[in-house]
Amino acid sequence: MPDRPAAAAAAVIGPGRVARLVERERATYAARHPASRQAFAEAGANLLGGVPMTWMRMWPGGFPLYLAGASGARLTDIDGHEYIDFCLGDTGAMAGHSPAPVQTAVAQRYGELGGATTMLPTEDAAWVAAELARRFGPSHWSFTLSATDANRWALRIARQITARPKILVYSYCYHGSVDESFVIATPHGPRSRPGNTGAAVDPTITAGVVEFNDAAALERELAAGDIAAVLMEPAMTNIGIVLPEEGYLAAVRELTRAYGTLLINDETHTLSAGPGGCTAAWLLDPDVVTVGKSIGGGIPCGAFGISAPVAQQILADKSADIVDTGGVGGTLAGNALSVAAMRATLEHVLTDEAFAVMIALADRFTAGVRGVLASHGLPWNIVQLGARAEYRFCAVPPRSGGESHAAADEQLDEYLHLYLANRGVLITPFHNMALMCPATTDADVDAHTELFGAAAAELVS
Ligand SMILES: Cc1ncc(COP(=O)(O)O)c(C=O)c1O
Repeated sequence: MPDRPAAAAAAVIGPGRVARLVERERATYAARHPASRQAFAEAGANLLGGVPMTWMRMWPGGFPLYLAGASGARLTDIDGHEYIDFCLGDTGAMAGHSPAPVQTAVAQRYGELGGATTMLPTEDAAWVAAELARRFGPSHWSFTLSATDANRWALRIARQITARPKILVYSYCYHGSVDESFVIATPHGPRSRPGNTGAAVDPTITAGVVEFNDAAALERELAAGDIAAVLMEPAMTNIGIVLPEEGYLAAVRELTRAYGTLLINDETHTLSAGPGGCTAAWLLDPDVVTVGKSIGGGIPCGAFGISAPVAQQILADKSADIVDTGGVGGTLAGNALSVAAMRATLEHVLTDEAFAVMIALADRFTAGVRGVLASHGLPWNIVQLGARAEYRFCAVPPRSGGESHAAADEQLDEYLHLYLANRGVLITPFHNMALMCPATTDADVDAHTELFGAAAAELVS
């Protein structure tokens, strides 16, 4: 395995050191988890890639931990180890694992009342829509079973009402498996993102792409007049965290309005900024908001909200079939179980008060990591977005997806992830994200700080 810590870090980490540490941690991981290792070895016959969903191959150490159970901010594996979980299902469990109000709502809808999926509305749906409107602004909401579908259907509506063919995304964004979004900016112009699997159409035909925080590039793209919508996270979260610079989001709003392009804020991850995500926290005014993952407390769900003018346009458009086979909607979307779970999560778990606690925990997490980096002279940084924080292997926080991509270091990722997992702490297998849920405690955060400090000490010793 090559030893290639990011350039800045290489100055303080001795040659070959990361590779040796990874090897040691891999051996510990294999020895600590015989049951998971065996389950994985036996699963390959009929599971594609040996896992229920191929991303689960992302976990370090050669095989994933097998889940026994999870509650709040803790989970246990089938070898009997307990973990403090800062991965939280890559945000799907931002409400914590199986929070009690969602358990009750799900049991009631599925068991007592019955009718998980009937193609009939329940009264919970209007409550959830009103709550999402209160939190995010857009007045008219529709439900999906994933954030991916919320984005896909919002994009269809945007293209329909603007009669424009393309969308615009940011280089190294992630918005789910939305075809148009797998495009990156390179010195040679836009390119399909490496690894883009079986693309139906080269995404450089269907999408424009710019780097985050570059308003001039955005204006150049919008000026062509063929962009239906800008699909963005107000802060990028899927290539590390990239925060908007002062004035950037105001420029995006001004430019999209000036060029007749709709603005879609994907708040699926940036919900960590507060009860109404970045949209509410930073007083943004998008035409569309999409969200998913966490708002059902772990039960599949997603939603998109559109402004009243957009709603009027799409409802009045006789050439758009949004009631049958026009490409928007799905059989199980908005089902009674999913909607009941969203109501319970928003009403009782991911409340305004809960976010205050979660954000304070992330403040503590960030301060702890900063202390470790300073005391060991590691030229890395940590960026916080409300209840979420992420460290990155460069001295200065990246200002674009391209810059953040350049700071990636798979080997350091593997070392840190394995070091933590072997000692009872999980962070996301994708880069170095940690998320707080309402059940996370100060002691959980301090446990991470201590382990992160010990892992850092070994790197520089
Ligand atoms: C910002 C953002 N939008 C959408 C999605 C897609 O979510 P899902 O995989 O639940 O459809 C993701 C997934 O990571 C995401 O990070």
